[in-house]
Amino acid sequence: MQLLAFIIFSSSLCADEPYDALLDSMTDKNFVTVERLKQDELQEFCSQPRTASVDEARAAELRAAALSDVPIPSGENYLGDWQLGEKVASNGRGLQYSDDPEQENGGNCYACHQLDPSEVAYGNLGPSLSGYGARGQSIVMLQYTWTKLWNTHAYNICSHMPRFGAAGILTEQQLRDVMAFLFDPNSPVNRSQP
Ligand code: HEC
Repeated sequence: MQLLAFIIFSSSLCADEPYDALLDSMTDKNFVTVERLKQDELQEFCSQPRTASVDEARAAELRAAALSDVPIPSGENYLGDWQLGEKVASNGRGLQYSDDPEQENGGNCYACHQLDPSEVAYGNLGPSLSGYGARGQSIVMLQYTWTKLWNTHAYNICSHMPRFGAAGILTEQQLRDVMAFLFDPNSPVNRSQP
């Protein structure tokens, strides 16, 4: 029993060491800095081993903080140009050391979602978004989707989707364009399945 207590105690003491050692072994490259790999409190919370019991109160606190930081787009204008949004969704470039930091980042949505049903190359970590426009353009749907794109953790605390707005990956205008790509009846996302 004493031995077990010692093992548990010492392993909790060393919990961050492998990660910190990994960070020490890395160096900045071009515009990408090691600083970026330092976890914020939400990432730390979501990196706990699955065996750890979830602190529900803390999860609710972090979720509420994420939600309260989501801005309303200027002029409450949620929808931009779907054709530009299609380019953002298909673009997987940006934020890697070999990318040009002067170029706009992409959203890489196809890495995890089906969107235009005629596009055959897509990942399925996230649900299919084909036909998303059928949900209609009520203010509730627009706000839900905007929030999901801005900071997915506002709804799903340990979501695997990037925080496109909150992490500065996409601009407000790019997000409006992606919104139009999802909602516009003329967007290929809302084409009937081939
Ligand atoms: C790394 C994978 C990943 C990427 C990249 C990603 N998503 Fe997601 N997305 C997910 C996952 C996983 C879910 C479902 C689980 C959750 O809610 O977190 C999701 C959920 C969603 C939802 C909610 C779906 C619903 O039925 O209500 C929307 C909308 C969405 N994503 C849009 C996008 C758009 C648009 C992009 C690109 C700008 C994108 N996602 C990029 C993983 C991803």
